[in-house]
Formats: sequence, C-alpha cells, structure tokens
Amino acid sequence: MEPKQIMVQAFATPVFTWQFADRAELNARVAESVRRLARAGRSHDENRAHQGGFYTPGALFDDPPPEIVEVRSLMRDGVRRYMEVVARTGYGRIRAIPDGWIHLQGWAALTRERDYQPPHVHAGSNMSCIYYVEVPDKPDPQGAIDLMNPLPAQEMTFIPGGQTTHCRVTPRPGMLLIFPAYVSHIVHPFFGAGERICIVANAMIKPPA
Ligand SMILES: [Fe+2]
Repeated sequence: MEPKQIMVQAFATPVFTWQFADRAELNARVAESVRRLARAGRSHDENRAHQGGFYTPGALFDDPPPEIVEVRSLMRDGVRRYMEVVARTGYGRIRAIPDGWIHLQGWAALTRERDYQPPHVHAGSNMSCIYYVEVPDKPDPQGAIDLMNPLPAQEMTFIPGGQTTHCRVTPRPGMLLIFPAYVSHIVHPFFGAGERICIVANAMIKPPA
C-alpha cells in the first residue's frame, strides 16, 4: 500500500502578471498625462531607490484624472484577484478580503536611457503593483525587472535546474505585475532612444480600526 503523500510548497512567493491586450488607448492617455507632469515639475526623489528618471509624489491616487482612475481600478482588481487565487491554492486565508480593506498609494515613474533602480523593497506595504504604460523595445535584460529570491539558501538546492536566484519579468505595455512587497527587486537600465513609463503602487490590506 502506498503511503499517504503530502507535498506543500512551504515557502511560496506568488508573483502575478496580467497582460491586457486592449489598453493601447488608455496607455496613450496615461503616457501623455505622465509626460505633462514631468514637464511641469521636478522629480520627487525622497525615499526613492533610483538613479535618474522622473517620479511624481506618492499621492497620485488622491485626486486623480480619469486615466489614472482607470489604472487604479485595474490595480485594485489585481490585488483582489491575487488574494483570491492564492487562497484557492490552500495557502493563506480563504475568507474574502472586503474591498474596503484594500488601500492603494500610487505614483508615476518616467525613466530614460541609463536610469536604473538598485535593490530595494517597498517597506511598510503588503504588495507592490506596477502597471506598464510604455516600454522601449530593447534586448534582454534592458528595462527588465528582477525579483530576487527571498530565500537565498534555495540556491543550494539539490534539484537539478532548481537553482533560482531571481525571477525576471520583461515588461510590456499593458502588463500589470504584483508581488509581495518584501521581495527585493532591481530594474535594469536600457540604452538608446525611448522612455519607460509606469504607474506604481503600494497595496496595504488594513482591517478597519
Ligand atoms: Fe520598486
């Protein structure tokens, strides 16, 4: 008789991407909106982990124009779906998280050639969300984001091919990426023409006080 077998992905780190194929018109409006902000003011660099580029203050979602409202809504749906799908795997809570518990704090980033982000986490939040609006078409790894394995000891695994140092995501316009905020990540620079525009948010799950 075969023994009862249980296998658990004990230290899973769920990383989600959703690729929206029909958001070209939205992306054009968001890109114009971010470029207008970049022309109008200086970059807000306090507490930011980056070299170069233009960053709005972290209050982009407080009184946003319609195109940013649409991105915020995509992100809110993504956060909800993230928790639902992970819960269905048996990992984490099964009970639905009420919509009012999800808080998003957002900003926009516009970067050009040679700008990059050194390793950092999004301290104080639960999930990091990035919606890619415009991404120059460059050879890998230019412009890619590498999520570092939060379990560095996993690199010593005995499973052939299982030595994982990072999970690379190659952004495309219309992609939404969500991962746990404790996952350290870097953004590679790109070289040559083009601008890389994304909307970034910290998602916090807070029960009412
Ligand atoms: Fe980041």
